[in-house]
Amino acid sequence: MSSFAFATAARIAFGAGSAGQLPGVVAEFGSRPLVCTGAIPDRFAALIAGLDGVRTWPVAGEPTLDDVRAGVAAAREHGADVVVGLGGGAVLDAAKLIAALAPNDGDVLDYVEVIGAGRPPARTPLPFIAVPTTAGTGSEVTMNGVVSSPEHGVKVSMRHPSMLARVALIDPELTLGCPPTVTASSGLDALTQCLEPYVSPFANPITDGLCAEGLRRAGRGLRRAHAVGDDLEARTDMALCSLLGGIALANAKLGAVHGLAGVIGGLTGAPHGLTCATLLVECCRGTVTALRERQPDSPALGRYAEAGELLSGTAGVGALLDWLAETVRLLGVPTVAEIGVSAEQYPQICRQAAASSSMKGNPIVLDAAELEAILRRSA
Ligand SMILES: NC(=O)c1ccc[n+]([C@@H]2O[C@H](COP(=O)([O-])OP(=O)(O)OC[C@H]3O[C@@H](n4cnc5c(N)ncnc54)[C@H](O)[C@@H]3O)[C@@H](O)[C@H]2O)c1
Repeated sequence: MSSFAFATAARIAFGAGSAGQLPGVVAEFGSRPLVCTGAIPDRFAALIAGLDGVRTWPVAGEPTLDDVRAGVAAAREHGADVVVGLGGGAVLDAAKLIAALAPNDGDVLDYVEVIGAGRPPARTPLPFIAVPTTAGTGSEVTMNGVVSSPEHGVKVSMRHPSMLARVALIDPELTLGCPPTVTASSGLDALTQCLEPYVSPFANPITDGLCAEGLRRAGRGLRRAHAVGDDLEARTDMALCSLLGGIALANAKLGAVHGLAGVIGGLTGAPHGLTCATLLVECCRGTVTALRERQPDSPALGRYAEAGELLSGTAGVGALLDWLAETVRLLGVPTVAEIGVSAEQYPQICRQAAASSSMKGNPIVLDAAELEAILRRSA
């Protein structure tokens, strides 16, 4: 077995009602909280009302470089000493980036990967408290924040272990109001974030256990949470799937779904979870085919078969692909073409995806022709 390292949020409180701990948790770290919310801050007004010295900062969508710059200015102007992200992955990422950058000099571009200098933060970020309201991204336990640059047409991360949340409060009750479209896209993102680290060459015994449990929960909860939004048990399954996937991806990396989705999201502006969902089935099929042809002894093939059992109750790659395809159909996931990708864009997407950090955990390196075939079959 290879050596491995493992890191996650300093403290995790999980369960229905756990968001009620927010005032006490915030008070442990400061008295001037900046609370990043979604575009509708009133959605969780009761939670925010319990905080003293608060300034709210609405984040309208997946954050851009300019959104982060404006948030950093707001945090400094407020004299924020703690930053809370109360929302979906977009809000958590914005809050995480604002917390990291507020005490540090320079511009966000000095710190992001790929299009920036990728500098580590010189000063410790402000304490970041994560309260997710979707069950999808696991951003509450990852050490990166994703930001899009419309000018470059890409989504990139700033990443550092000091960006991990000091406390993650994961309360499935907060996800009860998610509409079916958000449940579908965020839920399929969560599932993918358990599957990709499960087959990754960077998997380790800790992430293996987390991914297996996350997949089991998705198998039980995803279709139900989509069909019956107020089913707290199904919502709890998916909140746990999201949490476990987040911990797993931060420690064992991701694969082709996220490699392609990051580039497509930057080019089209399509929501992240939805983009992942459009690619999931064909990325699995394409990777399995390449493994059978070029690395038939890869342990990842056994992992895909086990994932079939964890999700559907029947072991085997065929069962996995059938279950995923049926779930994507039931959840009304569109095609790659329907989210705005044209065939002329395939070569550029594949080139950029092949170089992306998110692609690094795929069990086999897919060549340009294989990546293009995945896009074609997903269209
Ligand atoms: N940092 C990481 O590790 C990581 C991992 C994966 C994805 N991401 C990022 O996360 C973002 C996607 O996050 P997401 O899938 O949670 O989507 P999102 O945050 O964009 O939210 C989707 C929609 O759901 C709404 N919403 C959120 N909570 C709700 C609730 N409880 N009830 C009703 N509506 C609600 C939001 O207002 C928004 O309109 C992307 O920006 C992606 O790049 C980050």
